[in-house]
Amino acid sequence: MLVSAKEMTAAARAGHYAIGAFNLNNLEWTKAVLKAAQEEQAPVIVQCSEGAGKYMSGYKTVVDMVNDVMDNMHITVPVALHLDHGTYEGCLACIDAGFSSIMFDGSHFDIEENIAKTKELVALAHSKGMSIEAEVGGIGGEEDGVVSQGECADPEECAKIASLGIDFLACGIGNIHGKYPANWAGLRFDVLEAIKDKVGDMPLVLHGGSGIPTEMIQEAIKLGVSKVNVNTECQIAFAEATRKYIEAGKDLQGKGFDPRKLLAPGSDAIVATVKEKRSSAPTARHDALTASHCICRARTGICRTNTEMKRVCRQDIPSCYFRPYMTGQSAIIVFRKLFIPLFQAYHNLPG
Ligand code: 13P
Repeated sequence: MLVSAKEMTAAARAGHYAIGAFNLNNLEWTKAVLKAAQEEQAPVIVQCSEGAGKYMSGYKTVVDMVNDVMDNMHITVPVALHLDHGTYEGCLACIDAGFSSIMFDGSHFDIEENIAKTKELVALAHSKGMSIEAEVGGIGGEEDGVVSQGECADPEECAKIASLGIDFLACGIGNIHGKYPANWAGLRFDVLEAIKDKVGDMPLVLHGGSGIPTEMIQEAIKLGVSKVNVNTECQIAFAEATRKYIEAGKDLQGKGFDPRKLLAPGSDAIVATVKEKRSSAPTARHDALTASHCICRARTGICRTNTEMKRVCRQDIPSCYFRPYMTGQSAIIVFRKLFIPLFQAYHNLPG
């Protein structure tokens, strides 16, 4: 069953990690992203732009496809289906079609109109149990072959939109969609910090997540980014793997022209890209949504797997060593009852 993205992004914000939000383009993308999320035991946001929705013959098709793939692939991690950069009308259509989350991109309106429309859609989305993302300050990118530098959102405007009850906020901090130009100036952490100071615990969204250096994504997550959007990297990986297959003449061997064979390397490349993207930044395993793991992650910063959690906890917080296997409460009880008395006995300390 699809879930709202509210809880997963709020847990990510509290735990200092981020949820990967991957754009869907067709059936192969859907299967590949869900497969990667399930194998990694990670909550995931699958999202669809209005253009991709049209390409896939409508939002209802997208909803049915994602639901059916989840059923047939026995997907058990939390999955939210989100509209990416929706217009007002697109949001209404996705609410009707059965999405579990929407983004209203009113960044091209003046702030008053953005506020009015966002407010209306917040009420509507929440009445259906859906989450909603809003945007302030456009995200740059390639248009008609011209690549614009990313814009920066006004922190005061971010505060106004954040106060409307939205669940997560996209704000321009110099990021752009598509490939980054060689002379890209990088993310504006000063702007991100100023926004964070104004919006408090509101989870922030980093659009244009493809091609941003890992350290920059990690820094952005430390400053409140809790959802990282990725599309172009999966598209490039898919295209490269498909090109290799054809250039090697494999479509000419046997039944290599069968789309189930022809599209397999590209699909595998998407799975690998989603996993690689996740492992390069603090992200969540499904079980990270439990409080104990979030606390552990909050303190250690970058746990991704149980093995890594153990390693990091062992190094930095010895008392946390057993936490991955327990609820927060039982870990504290065991620590108090077992380790503290042992420590006291060893050092002959008074009880
Ligand atoms: P990229 O295509 O640059 O990864 O951006 C994805 C995105 O932000 C979707 O909104």
